[in-house]
Amino acid sequence: MSATRSRKLIMTQYGEDFAACTEIVDAKVGEPGHGEVLVRNVYAGVNGVYDLNMVRDAVSYISYKPPTDLGIEVVGRIEKLGPGVSDFEIGDSVATWKVGAGYRDYQVAETSRLYKVPAASPEILCLMPTGISGMVGIEEVGELKSGETVAISAAAGGLGHIIVQVAKKAGNHVIGLCGSDEKAQRLSDIGCDRIINYRTENVDDVLKTEYPKGIDIAYDSVGGPIFDAFVNNLAIKGRLVISGYTSEVGKPWEQVTAPRIYQKLYFRSASVRAFINPHFEEYHPHAAERLIGWYQSGEIEVFVDPVPFVGLEDVPAAVNHLLSGKNLGKVVVKLET
Ligand SMILES: NC(=O)c1ccc[n+]([C@@H]2O[C@H](COP(=O)([O-])OP(=O)(O)OC[C@H]3O[C@@H](n4cnc5c(N)ncnc54)[C@H](OP(=O)(O)O)[C@@H]3O)[C@@H](O)[C@H]2O)c1
Repeated sequence: MSATRSRKLIMTQYGEDFAACTEIVDAKVGEPGHGEVLVRNVYAGVNGVYDLNMVRDAVSYISYKPPTDLGIEVVGRIEKLGPGVSDFEIGDSVATWKVGAGYRDYQVAETSRLYKVPAASPEILCLMPTGISGMVGIEEVGELKSGETVAISAAAGGLGHIIVQVAKKAGNHVIGLCGSDEKAQRLSDIGCDRIINYRTENVDDVLKTEYPKGIDIAYDSVGGPIFDAFVNNLAIKGRLVISGYTSEVGKPWEQVTAPRIYQKLYFRSASVRAFINPHFEEYHPHAAERLIGWYQSGEIEVFVDPVPFVGLEDVPAAVNHLLSGKNLGKVVVKLET
């Protein structure tokens, strides 16, 4: 028997401080309609950058007006089937993602946006959809090949450590950037060939000195000087994928005066491209299938940040933890206690 009441985290106002802009409220447990199921959310994934940008009204392609439901991806368990649902059963573990569906105890979800998964675990949550994003971003936008040199920023983060392993499995030399010795050790464990702790080494200098032919794929979600170092060190036909700019979030845009970017790209036939996961949905099922298979067979490791966050009350702390840059792997909040 499922509960009749539950709670959710909503944005109550715009502002710069996630905690001050959010509140936990009661939410009626919905009744699944035709082709829908009721899901008990077990773990929610934290996307600190997107979460903060929502309350700052700084998601450039859409304005979320308060009051707005928050959170995106979860793994959970089906508790009730709506009419016409035949391919799922009560008790199935599922992964699903949609803006507003994550930071809440229960959600009603269309089966068309559910993935049946082996377990409602934090590791599966990291793969779905963060791991999918990384895999699709580097394969489709980065045009992943083998025998190339690939550099990845925030390489020990939720997104980054999956990209490292996807690039290694394809047979590339992988450079992982990170901000601590502990992260560097974990990157070494998963096969990074060169690890740059950007707090102790200058990224631009290392790339120039050790990679005179340049970087074939630079996968960047940090921005700022790391983005600059990547642009400066692209190989002939090199591809730089913009997948975020964590270092600039919550600050005024840095104003940069420099020659136009073609000065850096043209004579190298190099390119700068951007990737945002929702534009590549057709690639999700194949990526999900491979990632889950690799995880189950032990071919890839999944890093889940060890700091425990439990309940909706902990979501703001989890968001701030991610934004502090101290996390190692995917930040998750346990919702079912
Ligand atoms: N394009 C897409 O579809 C897509 C999908 C998912 C995520 N993303 C983006 O990818 C990025 C990573 O997301 P994630 O959730 O997996 O986070 P994450 O990488 O687990 O965490 C962010 C990491 O960024 C690094 N960082 C570098 N400079 C920083 C700074 N000034 N402040 C804070 N952190 C800094 C930190 O690691 P180090 O200090 O070790 O570098 C930190 O651990 C975000 O920008 C996110 O928006 C994009």
